[in-house]
Amino acid sequence: MAFFFIFILVTFLQLSVKFSEPTIHVDLKLLCFAGKSDDLTNDGCNKTSDLVVCFGELLIDFVPTVGGVSLAEAPAFKKAPGGAPANVAVGISRLGGSSAFIGKVGADEFGYMLADILKQNKVNTSGMRYDTNARTALAFVTLKADGEREFLFFRNPSADMLLDESELDHDLIEKAKIFHYGSISLIDEPCKSAHLAALRIAKDSDCILSYDPNLRLALWPSAEAAREGIMSIWDLADVIKISEDEITFLTGGDDPYDDDVVLNKLFHPNLKLLIVTEGSEGCRYYTKDFKGKVGGVKVKPVDTTGAGDAFVSGFLYNIASDPSIFENEERLQKALHFANVCGAITVTERGAIPALPTKDAVLHFTKI
Ligand SMILES: *[C@@H]1O[C@H](CO)[C@@H](O)[C@H](O)[C@H]1NC(C)=O
Ligand SMILES: *[C@@H]1O[C@H](CO)[C@@H](O)[C@H](O)[C@H]1NC(C)=O
Repeated sequence: MAFFFIFILVTFLQLSVKFSEPTIHVDLKLLCFAGKSDDLTNDGCNKTSDLVVCFGELLIDFVPTVGGVSLAEAPAFKKAPGGAPANVAVGISRLGGSSAFIGKVGADEFGYMLADILKQNKVNTSGMRYDTNARTALAFVTLKADGEREFLFFRNPSADMLLDESELDHDLIEKAKIFHYGSISLIDEPCKSAHLAALRIAKDSDCILSYDPNLRLALWPSAEAAREGIMSIWDLADVIKISEDEITFLTGGDDPYDDDVVLNKLFHPNLKLLIVTEGSEGCRYYTKDFKGKVGGVKVKPVDTTGAGDAFVSGFLYNIASDPSIFENEERLQKALHFANVCGAITVTERGAIPALPTKDAVLHFTKI
C-alpha cells in the first residue's frame, strides 16, 4: 500500500517536472554545478566542479604572546599564517568545498611553510609561485589595551607584491566556478597588473567574481589612492562583501546604515549580491530584487581574527554549490545565516586558520 502511494507520488513529481520547462532548465544547471557537466559543454556552463579560486596575499602574521601590549612592549611574537584570500581558501576547504590559492611567497622557509599549511588543508597550490629574490611578507600586528590596532609590515618589496602576469595559472582560473579576491593585490606593480589580468581571464571564462576589498589603509600610499584603487575594479564584481566602516570610507563619510547610500553609491547594475557585514549583529544583503537583514548569532568572543574570512568562506561555499541563491531570497538567507555561524565560531578560538569551522561544527551549532 505504502509502496503504491510512493509510486503515485513519484509519477506525479515526474509529471510536474515534465510540464514545467523552467524547472528542467534549472535542473540541468544544477547538474552542471554539481560537477557532471562533461557532456553539457554547449549549455553555457563548462565548469566541471564547484572550485573556488582565491587570489591575493599569503603572509606570516607575528602576534604578541601576551595580549593588550604595543609592538614595542611585546616580549615575544608567535607566528601565524595570514592573508585574507588564503584564509578564505582554507575556510572553504574546511567546510568540505573545493578551493585553490593563487599568489606568491618567497622561496624561503616561511614561504614553503605557508604552502604546506595550505596543502595540509587540501587547498590546491598549483597556482602558487616562489620568488627567489624577495622574502615572504611579514606583518607584526597587535591589539593594544586601548583597543587600537598597531601594524608593522615588512614588504620592501615582499614576494606577494611581485607576482607577474606571466606567472598566472590560466587553466586553474578558467576551471573556477568562483574567483575571489581582495584589494591589497592592487596596491603595487607588477602584482596589480597580474590581478587585473586574472580578473579578465575569470570574467571571460564565466566565473562568478567575488570581491572583499578588506581595506588595509596602512598599506596604501594615501587614503585617496586606497579609495580609487578599491573602486577601480568595483563594477566587475558579481558579489561584493563590505563592512560598515568600509562603506563610510568609500563614500567619504556617509551613513552605512542608510539603504539609499548603499543602493545609490555602491550597488551597480552587474552586481548580483552586495553584502554588508555588521560584526556580531549579522549582515545585510542587497540584490536587484530584494534586500534584508540576517541577524547575527551571539557567542563569547575570544579573538575576532579571521571572522570576516570565515564569513566569506561560508557564503562562497554555499554559492559554489547553489548559485540560485542570487534569485531565491529564502536560500540566500539560509546561506547568510550559515556564514554568520562560520564567523561566530571563528571568534570563539584564537587565530584565523585554526579557528575556521568544519561543516559539521556549523550544523551542530545551528541545531542548538
Ligand atoms: C564551453 O566550451 C565550448 C567548447 O570548448 C566553447 O565553444 C564554449 O564557448 C564554452 N562556453 C563557455 C560559456 O565558456
Ligand atoms: C590542482 O589543480 C590543477 C589544475 O586544475 C590540477 O592539475 C592538479 O592536479 C591539482 N592538484 C591537486 C593536488 O589536486
